[in-house]
Amino acid sequence: MIIAIDGPAGSGKSSVAKMIAHRLGFQHIDTGAMYRAVAWKGQQTGIDLSDPDAVARMAEATDIELIPGGGGQRILVDGQDVTAQLKTEAVGRGAATVASQARVREILVAKQRDIGKNGGVVMDGRDIGTVVFPGADKKFFLDADPRERGRRRFEELKVSNPEVDLESIIDQVRERDFEDKNRAVSPLKQAADAIRLDTTHLAIEDVVEKILRLCEPS
Ligand code: C5P
Repeated sequence: MIIAIDGPAGSGKSSVAKMIAHRLGFQHIDTGAMYRAVAWKGQQTGIDLSDPDAVARMAEATDIELIPGGGGQRILVDGQDVTAQLKTEAVGRGAATVASQARVREILVAKQRDIGKNGGVVMDGRDIGTVVFPGADKKFFLDADPRERGRRRFEELKVSNPEVDLESIIDQVRERDFEDKNRAVSPLKQAADAIRLDTTHLAIEDVVEKILRLCEPS
């Protein structure tokens, strides 16, 4: 079984996907972390992220491993554990830039299909139900009010950086939404057969229970 969970930044999809995978004994694949890994490496090595050829060459030569584990998925880039470094807004913005490039998407989508081909996965991202696994058994699209999504990102980021500013995080979330929804390749959109859940006023546990109920065999 493949469960696809898509949605914008801060919709709660990664936390929800992680908990659902845990409850079902499935593997959780956070595909956003793969785009972040490419952006992180580009930023570390001084590559111009707006140059699609340079980014594609680098992505082809980069080994990205997703290691499932009790504490959550860990990401290794060329053997180095960079899980914590990928969480910053700067890497998130870089990820949105490289994610607009067709060749990078081809490379990462092929990897995602390979990881998910045997099923038993909960995969979250922007295009899982539309492009990566259009035939997924269950598809969900999580959304929430942009201010609430910004507030959630703010709470996450505040843990490692007490200087973060709520209003600028909300602005960044809106900017990333705009980029993700308006790019030419695989823009963020709900699959026609996905179930939409508005999480603005829902606790994460409630979203998880709802999705688990909807995944029960009928
Ligand atoms: O979900 P997360 O914030 O980690 O994703 C970072 C960026 O990666 C997104 O803003 C989006 O541009 C891109 N992304 C994507 N397709 C996916 C997952 C993430 O384009 N399946």
